[in-house]
Amino acid sequence: MSTTISLKEVSASAHEALNAFHREFERFANTSEAESVGGALNLEDGVAEQRALAEVRTKCLGKKSDLAGLKKMIGRVAPEERAQVGQLIQQLERTMTESLDQAEERFKSQLETLRIERESIDVTLPGRRPSRGHLHPITLLRERIEDIFVSLGYAIEDGREIETDFYNFDALNIPLNHPARAPQDTFYTTEGFALRSQTSTVQIHAMQRRGAPVRMIAPGRVFRRDTPDPTHNPMFYQVEGLCVDRGISMAHLKGTVAEFLRRMFGPATVTRFRPSYFPFTEPSAEFDFSCFKCGGSGCRICKNSGWIELGGSGMVHPNVLRVVGIDPEEFSGFAFGLGIDRMAALMYNIDDIRLLYQNDVRFLEQFS
Ligand code: DAH
Repeated sequence: MSTTISLKEVSASAHEALNAFHREFERFANTSEAESVGGALNLEDGVAEQRALAEVRTKCLGKKSDLAGLKKMIGRVAPEERAQVGQLIQQLERTMTESLDQAEERFKSQLETLRIERESIDVTLPGRRPSRGHLHPITLLRERIEDIFVSLGYAIEDGREIETDFYNFDALNIPLNHPARAPQDTFYTTEGFALRSQTSTVQIHAMQRRGAPVRMIAPGRVFRRDTPDPTHNPMFYQVEGLCVDRGISMAHLKGTVAEFLRRMFGPATVTRFRPSYFPFTEPSAEFDFSCFKCGGSGCRICKNSGWIELGGSGMVHPNVLRVVGIDPEEFSGFAFGLGIDRMAALMYNIDDIRLLYQNDVRFLEQFS
């Protein structure tokens, strides 16, 4: 049988329990609303202190606490003292609970403030502007060329980059033994297919689809087996032009190319045609224009010649018209082709065209 416990003994134990609580609770007791939580200056420390407070609660009010021990004593107190002992223990529990609750409340509101401070945005700080980017210099130039020809009544055609031998060669009147067909120059994919080495292929598609009369330009990529160096790249850009109608002559070709170049490089630009040879035109000519930099007197850009070579042209060969079912007795036409990259390199003074394909923004940024 267990011995009875007196009110005095319980009261002494309760006193001890309260002292123990105060020791544990001391560091949480003095923090006012204005002060930082439990002496914590930041959110992380604050959260750690909050957790420490919860541990004090378990230690002083939990199942293994002194308080729990005191409650167990009640049964062993003489009945006439039980009510008083009960009150005493209740009082002790209330004191501790209230202190803990108050501290807990303070933690909550102070941590909330710290969290809001952390997440808040200073709207007075200058914003971080995303860089906007801009079109590639080749695209810019292509669009200028397109605008000029559209204003002259030309449609814009989009061709294929992989072509059959028919469009690459046969239809363009390129004979079987022509060097352009050699695998040293052309990228063949599978038998009978190759990456187009010129945009002239689009002439054939356009005439097949549209018949005559037709006026179109076709900008696009072409591929040749060249070793890259400052003036060569196995992939580059061309613009093809084609005009077929009744009564078209070399004069129309010259007038059109001259007008295009005047709009491109200014009204004083002079154009010159030199006889040449292309399988798909007869007669054929290459054309140059007076240097946009020195106006023809000679400079570094035109290598002191006063002229800049730009492209090939000619009157569409009757064989080419026949292939697409256009009667060369009724219709005639001219065609031309020029390189966009070369033009870009000259205009922007780029001494290595490979820079145009490397997509290095430090280089491209210059051309916005
Ligand atoms: N395709 C030729 C080349 O890549 C350029 C060319 C010359 C295109 C004469 C034409 C033309 O349309 O008539 O060098």
